[in-house]
Amino acid sequence: MRLPIVDRDPARLAARHEAAVLWASRPALFGLLRLAPLGGPVRRVPRLGWVVTDPVLARRVLNDPGHFTLLGEGGVGHLWAQVLGDYVYRIFDGPGHADLRRRARDLFTDATARPLVGRVFDPALRPAVARLRAGGEVDVADLSRLLVGRMMAELLGLDLPAGDGEYRRIFGTGERLARLALGSAASTALAPDVVAQAKGIIAELTRNVPRAFAEAPAETLLGRCRELGLTVQEASGLSALLLVAGTETAATAMTRTLALLHDTGQQHRLVADPDLLATAVREGLRVTTPAPVIGRGVSRDVTVGPAAMRAGERVLVLTHAANNRAGGFDLDRPYLPESRQLWFGAGRHLCLGAALARAELEHLLGGLLSAGPVRVVGRRAARGVLIPSYASLRIVAGGPATPARHQVAAPAKLVGDGR
Ligand code: HEM
Repeated sequence: MRLPIVDRDPARLAARHEAAVLWASRPALFGLLRLAPLGGPVRRVPRLGWVVTDPVLARRVLNDPGHFTLLGEGGVGHLWAQVLGDYVYRIFDGPGHADLRRRARDLFTDATARPLVGRVFDPALRPAVARLRAGGEVDVADLSRLLVGRMMAELLGLDLPAGDGEYRRIFGTGERLARLALGSAASTALAPDVVAQAKGIIAELTRNVPRAFAEAPAETLLGRCRELGLTVQEASGLSALLLVAGTETAATAMTRTLALLHDTGQQHRLVADPDLLATAVREGLRVTTPAPVIGRGVSRDVTVGPAAMRAGERVLVLTHAANNRAGGFDLDRPYLPESRQLWFGAGRHLCLGAALARAELEHLLGGLLSAGPVRVVGRRAARGVLIPSYASLRIVAGGPATPARHQVAAPAKLVGDGR
């Protein structure tokens, strides 16, 4: 039997719930994230390679394409080349990647992401908010998966029948694809049967890409890829990548940020002052850091801080540990120049969907809290998953008593437009 987590201090309670989510995903990941910072900013760990926990050194590694690559053993490009084909080596790093990024620079901007998210999310978000207002219950983890599934179907140009089941299935398929990479902590070389499974999943999910690429209007993702001069092969590869990079990461950020706002009691401040929404999104992304580890291979000998790294070695950048050095979720925390937005990586592989992810998070939080403060009535962390997350987080409207530390004088104002 699992005992409920209780703590009278809201900040500690929130941290304990986050710890439980990490532990449930993979106890080994939890141990690494907690223990590695005790060994200093960078150190060598048997079987894993170099482990970096300092935010400045982390950005130093990610910003140095001359000495680090994601194509070698240890990097995500190595995983993808086995599944998508050797063209990955041309477009995932080096001059081909720089060229692709230059052309794809404006794929997602704040200005294009916000209306896209509103259009794609609202048909599912509005009924959920209405249910809260009517005194009903909403499972935020399930809702987030549904919303992100809707976004993926939109981006991949999939014509799906109406009904939520198909969108949940898309999310589940993206999750299955990511899970195939679970065993890659010690090596990114995939077994032949894993490669075959991954290829099957990608073929199914990107089945409409060639047609949508040819016909889609210029304002859609695939239409824009065409207008930007990408080839259909590049657009298919990018679509597969979006699916893996942008499903579980975005869904977990949404659910866990809402849980953090609830557990710390800071949702009351956000309800009273919607201008805090951007800070809530930034703090949620920092504390949850949905991609907790970024892998690279050392391509040429290099010294990073006190570490002399040799070509062929692996580096694990523990972004979660680096981002959380500053402390727990706090709406009063200013922008941290040493971390910048390390939750989205850094350098030439900085998350391509960052603006979209921020808009998704803003829209969900604004929408749900437009019904006023919420109360968590049940939660379950997901076990054995690549990206730590809640399997379920059930909420109702009408928050718990405002914790003394976060009491607000102003009456609750409506947040966002997700009513
Ligand atoms: C909260 C949500 C998200 C987080 C925390 C996140 C995090 C990251 C991180 C850390 C990287 C860098 C990986 C590396 O350097 O090896 C990355 C890359 C990437 N992300 Fe995201 N991501 C999120 C959402 C999305 C979304 C919604 C999309 C698009 C639909 C997306 C698309 C991409 C792509 C295409 C890359 C590869 C960029 C490249 O290699 O040039 N991500 N993401």
